[in-house]
Amino acid sequence: MNLSNYYFKNTNYLHMNKINIHKKFKLFNDQWSPKVIGELNGQAVKIAKVKGEFVWHNHEHEDELFYIIRGTLKIEFRDRTIELNEGEMLIVPKGVEHKPIAEEEVWLMLFEPISTKHTGTVKSELTVEKYEYL
Ligand code: NI
Repeated sequence: MNLSNYYFKNTNYLHMNKINIHKKFKLFNDQWSPKVIGELNGQAVKIAKVKGEFVWHNHEHEDELFYIIRGTLKIEFRDRTIELNEGEMLIVPKGVEHKPIAEEEVWLMLFEPISTKHTGTVKSELTVEKYEYL
């Protein structure tokens, strides 16, 4: 196999660049508005800054991954609250109602299908219709 041929035909390889997540966080200040920083296999890697209370919602068909880059995020469930600190992550299974709460600003990374709405099936003034790419 001719490797260089393979590499140049693979557009993902041509566009392969490392991403500095902390630098990406410096590019925006709006809260509750996830930005897409990468895509793979139909999934989006998103980052967001959040502060305050989000709305109760669930994602009918998608599991959702929260990974905390900075701060402390509480996620309320109907039967308990889970607190996530820097370096911790949680996968919320599809269909499970949740409500994120950040007393101070939290920086987080999300990993979910590109089609996922962050407010799930709930329509809110916080719902983002089209995600911005950084
Ligand atoms: Ni969610």
